[in-house]
Amino acid sequence: MKQTIYDIDSRDSRPGIAFLRVDYNVPLDRSTNEIIDDARIAATIPTIRYLQELDARIILCSHLGRPKGQVVPSLTMSQVAKRLELMLNEPVKILTSFDGISIRGEVNTLGPKSVVMLENIRFVPHEESNDPAFAKQLAESADIYVNDAFGTAHRAHASTVGITHHLPAVAGLLLSREIEMLEQVTLNPERPTAVLVGGAKLSDKIGIIENLMNKIDQLLIGGGMAAPFIKAIGHGVGQSSYDVDQVSIASSLIDGAKSNNIDIVLPIDAIVADAFSNNAATKVVPISEIPDGWILMDIGPQTISLFESQLQNAKTVMWNGPMGVAEFTKFASGTREMAVSLSKRTKGISIAGGGSTSQMIHDLGLTNSFTHVSTGGGASLEFLEGKNLPAINALLDKP
Ligand code: 3PG
Repeated sequence: MKQTIYDIDSRDSRPGIAFLRVDYNVPLDRSTNEIIDDARIAATIPTIRYLQELDARIILCSHLGRPKGQVVPSLTMSQVAKRLELMLNEPVKILTSFDGISIRGEVNTLGPKSVVMLENIRFVPHEESNDPAFAKQLAESADIYVNDAFGTAHRAHASTVGITHHLPAVAGLLLSREIEMLEQVTLNPERPTAVLVGGAKLSDKIGIIENLMNKIDQLLIGGGMAAPFIKAIGHGVGQSSYDVDQVSIASSLIDGAKSNNIDIVLPIDAIVADAFSNNAATKVVPISEIPDGWILMDIGPQTISLFESQLQNAKTVMWNGPMGVAEFTKFASGTREMAVSLSKRTKGISIAGGGSTSQMIHDLGLTNSFTHVSTGGGASLEFLEGKNLPAINALLDKP
């Protein structure tokens, strides 16, 4: 178990200046550069508020996008800071220096509870290389390090790992909740447990399936990754793209599931299209009749009902990955319907993770109807795969 900000209080001294690593890598609209989804910002407010209760001065640090060590003006943190100002109803000053001593000097001119935000930390090439001198220099700005950047927990960078060698390092409330919730699936889930996976490729989800296989009762499969399973049970998939070597992997998963008494539930119908486009012609077909030349784009209405009824009795449901090509409105209905259906569960726990899955849930305003919607994309995948996340490992253990 990792120490959290609740453990700070019991230390001899109060935090003074807290360096709070957050993941404000929010999706931006390609044409307007506006923030599309601010859930990652909102999710850190409880930690900020708690640190303010301790009278800390707070230095927020995040990356945005992948500027690769260059200053990229469209990836400045300024609009993120403005959004946070609105949420906190307090000023959030942007600091452009990454020099710890000068950041500390600047922060000390502000009162207790004040909040500043560093510019995009990935504007500095030493961030991603986890340069020890840069990490030390960052650490000089603060008295304590708090990590609430679950989305970045799989990256060993200067602001996520290097800095922890120089400061007492604890988890924020978001990070500790992510760990607690995802461990409910990976360690000892309440049974029956169902995992609903989707997304384009089986290869992206095989790690999750293999890690959870001996802890679950049902595996429901949607999205493009259903194609190799459909092939494996002897049907055609038209023009749908899939890696041929994934068919034998799907076959062995089906066999392994049978011998372990796990139900694999595949789509029974699909929305197919004559081109990979939102304007393509579409039709609904049984899964055994995907016509030549057509592409699997979404699960069909009968599959939605089947998945809903299968999930009804599960005490734990973990969902990761869209049911279809959800970025095209025409093929988002499977993902949307599953989000709505899971949000109506009144018993058991429902946890969702993955970038587009979480975004659909936020867009539909259903976040609070789930037990937990992870703020991590790659990080939640790696967690569910059973991997150790370096930024979590780096934090202090509870005594
Ligand atoms: C994410 O959005 O998954 C995190 O912010 C990590 O971003 P990265 O994949 O660019 O490291």
